[in-house]
Amino acid sequence: MRILGIETSCDDTGIAIYDDNLGLLNNQLHNQAYSHSKYGGVVPEIAARKHLIHIVPLIKKALKESSCKFSDIDAIAYTAGPGLPGSLMIGAALGHSLAYALNIPIILVNHIEAHLLSFGIEKKNIFEIKKKFPFIGLIVSGGHTQLVHAKSSGEYEVIGKSKDDSVGEVIDKVSSFLGLGYPGGVILSKLAKKSNGKKKYVFPRPMTKSNSLDFSFSGLKTSVFTAISSRKYSYADISKYFQEAWIDTLVIKSERAMNRLNLFNLVVSGGVSSNDLLRSTLFQKVTELKGTVSFVNHNFCTDNAAMIAYVGLLRLKESLSFSKKIRVYPKWSISDVTTF
Ligand code: KG4
Ligand code: ZN
Repeated sequence: MRILGIETSCDDTGIAIYDDNLGLLNNQLHNQAYSHSKYGGVVPEIAARKHLIHIVPLIKKALKESSCKFSDIDAIAYTAGPGLPGSLMIGAALGHSLAYALNIPIILVNHIEAHLLSFGIEKKNIFEIKKKFPFIGLIVSGGHTQLVHAKSSGEYEVIGKSKDDSVGEVIDKVSSFLGLGYPGGVILSKLAKKSNGKKKYVFPRPMTKSNSLDFSFSGLKTSVFTAISSRKYSYADISKYFQEAWIDTLVIKSERAMNRLNLFNLVVSGGVSSNDLLRSTLFQKVTELKGTVSFVNHNFCTDNAAMIAYVGLLRLKESLSFSKKIRVYPKWSISDVTTF
């Protein structure tokens, strides 16, 4: 059984073909960062137009490189939300049209769930990840910062989320404020390594003193902007101490979630989880707690269609059926993945 996955939730156009026996056959990605970098963030109208230009050539390329024909595809899975409405609509319209023309099932995939389960993409047996449940998921991306109690495939409870900016959004805004470009994650983490650490600056660890599992990163953003404007610190020092602050915050909240649920099985995913310092710090903390932690392969941390095709396949095997109406859910919560 082969699934064609379509990802267009934000500024990456992704197409993938996933086979239930052979695994990932092809994974195409067109990243639009260059089109948005001069604006310091994603411009929704530009993003949608770029998806429209790139999506069909990427499908043709994916089919050609995996030596597949349309007739070899058994179902289409697309990101139906959350995301930018205009961008989501491009994937939805194309996905439904193909499914209709080929007379095959269409599967609506939740982008957050796809990030969460993407640690399973390379597993030999696609159902192997079912053994991992229950676990706590930390999803840290450009659009979302969430702690999730993953009870079973399709059954999730959001136990903590950002009340304002997501951590990735703040990272990107700081990079843009420094004039270093978008997206900021890789730029700032490289710069942080250049700090000699002599000029210390302790940024706040927001909301870590309250018992809540929610996050709030906009105050941290303001503190960083203030430190930059004071001109007392090098960009490298700012990057280092800012990185320590957001990592500490995520680690404190993850530990609190594990203790609260008495569940020491953590899965970390999303674009920000490609950060190596975040990985090593979390690994150390979870080891101290005698728990286990899984990270997504670096290739699948940021937005991609492999995770959409993969979760589409899981859903299809669970025999869930989907309406043929073209639908997108820009604010779709992971706690409602099987209700539309
Ligand atoms: O998951 P993703 O591709 O997009 C959304 O679904 O939102 O995540 C993109 C985010 C951006 O904010 C980017 O700056 C951040 O992931 N990012 C990183 C790193 N690599 C990407 N943040 C910190 N450290 C990194 N190494
Ligand atoms: Zn994402």
